[in-house]
Amino acid sequence: MANILIFDTTLRDGEQAPGASLNQKEKLEIAQSLADLGVDIIEAGFPITSAGDFASVQSIAKSVKTAVICGLARSIKKDIEAAATALKPAKRPRIHVFLATSKIHMQYKLKKAEDEILRLAVEGVRYARKYCADIEFSPEDASRSEKSFLYRVIEAVIDAGATTVNIPDTVGYAEPEEFGALIAAIRDNVIKINKAVISVHCHNDLGLGVANSLAAIKNGARQVECTINGVGERAGNAALEEIVMTLDTRADLFGEFSTNIKKKQIYKTSRLVSRLTGFVIAPNKAIVGTNAFRHESGIHQDGVLKERSTYEIIKPQDVGFYGRGLVLGKHSGRHAFSERLKSLGFSLNKMQLDKAFVNFKGLADKKKEVFDDDLITIVEDQVQVAKPLWQLDSFEVTSGTRIAPKALVRLKQKGKILEGRSSGDGPVDACFKAIEKITGVKGELLDYRLEAVTKGKDAIGEVYLRVRIKNRMIQSRGSSTDVIEASVLAYLNALNKYAL
Ligand code: KIV
Ligand code: ZN
Repeated sequence: MANILIFDTTLRDGEQAPGASLNQKEKLEIAQSLADLGVDIIEAGFPITSAGDFASVQSIAKSVKTAVICGLARSIKKDIEAAATALKPAKRPRIHVFLATSKIHMQYKLKKAEDEILRLAVEGVRYARKYCADIEFSPEDASRSEKSFLYRVIEAVIDAGATTVNIPDTVGYAEPEEFGALIAAIRDNVIKINKAVISVHCHNDLGLGVANSLAAIKNGARQVECTINGVGERAGNAALEEIVMTLDTRADLFGEFSTNIKKKQIYKTSRLVSRLTGFVIAPNKAIVGTNAFRHESGIHQDGVLKERSTYEIIKPQDVGFYGRGLVLGKHSGRHAFSERLKSLGFSLNKMQLDKAFVNFKGLADKKKEVFDDDLITIVEDQVQVAKPLWQLDSFEVTSGTRIAPKALVRLKQKGKILEGRSSGDGPVDACFKAIEKITGVKGELLDYRLEAVTKGKDAIGEVYLRVRIKNRMIQSRGSSTDVIEASVLAYLNALNKYAL
C-alpha cells in the first residue's frame, strides 16, 4: 500500500477565497478539527502577509502537535524568516517556498529571466533549510511552464535541500490525462526525483481539480494539496473529501493507495469550515452537500429500500452523516439528547450541554419534529461566541403593507436590560438599527442569506451574514423558527465577534 499524504490548505489557499476571512480563534478551531480528521500537513497560513496571519500560524504551531504545520513563503529572505519565526513552536514545522516558473509569470509578473529564477529558487530553498529540515518547493504555474525549464528547477531545488516538490496547476488549466503525463514526465526526467516527495496542488477553474489530483496520484504523486469543501482562490481547490472518498470508494482502481483520514470526521469538519467561513455548501455538493445522500424519486427510494447499493455508492455514516431522520421530540430526555450529540461528533462540556438542552427543549416546543440537522444547528449556534457581550432578551416588530416597519429590541448586557427602538426599510432592518442604537456599533451589511435547515413550514431558518464593522469583515449565523429572530441573532453574533 502507498500512503498518500493529505496536505490541507484550507487555512491558506482556502482563506484566500474572496469573502472568507477567518480570525485567529476560528483558524485554530479549524486547525484542531483538521488534526482530528487526520490530515498529515496543515498549511496554516502565509506569515509575511499580515500580523494576524503570523499570529495564527504561531498559535496553531503552539497547539496542534499531531500534524506537520506548514507556513508559506515567497522565495525571499524576509518571507522565509517570517515563516520560520512563526513556526518556531511547532513540533514538526515545514516551510513552503514558492516561485513562478512559467513564461507568462516570469515575463509579466516577476520580470525575470530563467537563470535568475533558477538562482532565486535555489537560494530560497537553501536559506529555508537553515531554519528547517522539512522544505517544500512549488514552481508556481508549473502546468504552464516550459517542461525542460521545470525539470531543471526541480532538480536544482532538490539539490538545494527541498524534501517535497509540489507541482501546482495554479490557474486550473490542466486536463487529467495531460496532468498525469506531466507527473510521469517529471519522474522520468528529473534524475534525483526519488529524493523528494512529489506533491500536486490543483485548482478548480475548469472543475477538474479532483480529477487532476487523482491522475497525478496514478502517475506517482504521493502528496495532494486540497481544501475542505474545495474552498480556495477563484473556483477553489481540489476538495479533500472528494479525493479521499474516491480513493476509498473506487478501491478497484485505487486499492493500492491509502490515507490517514478518519472518514467519519469529514461531515463535521465540512460543517465547521462552512460555518466559520460563511460559505454555504451547495446542496448537490459531492460527499458533504445536504442532498448528497437523499433520494427524492420514487424509483430511487424503492431501490434503496430494497438494496442500498442500487443508488448509494457511499454509506452516509462512513463520512459522519447520520441522515435527517426524526430523532428526538419534546419528551426526549437529557441522556438521549447527549447521546445523539455524541453520535453526531460533538463532545460538549456540562455547561454547553445544559445550554444546548434548554435550546433543544425550546425548539421542540415550537417545532413538531426535531431532526439531526436541527440539533447540529443548535450546537453550532451556541459555540459562535462563548461569552457574548450582548444577548437577546426579546424583540417586537410591527410591519405590514401599509405601515412603516418598527422594532423594539431588548438586549441583556452584564445583567442589565437595554432597550432600543427604530424604524427601518423592513422589520429586519428596523431590528438591526435598534440593535445599533443600543450597542453603539454600526455594521455595513455585505451579504444576507436565509436558508431552511429542514423541510416544512415550521423548519428552522438559518441566516448567514457578512458584515463589515470598521475595517473588519465578520461572518456570522443565527437560527430560529422565526426568520426575524434568526436575523437578529445573526447580527448580534457579528457584533459580539467584533467586541471580542
Ligand atoms: O496555486 C498555487 O500555485 C499556489 C502555490 C503557492 C502553491 O497556491
Ligand atoms: Zn493555490
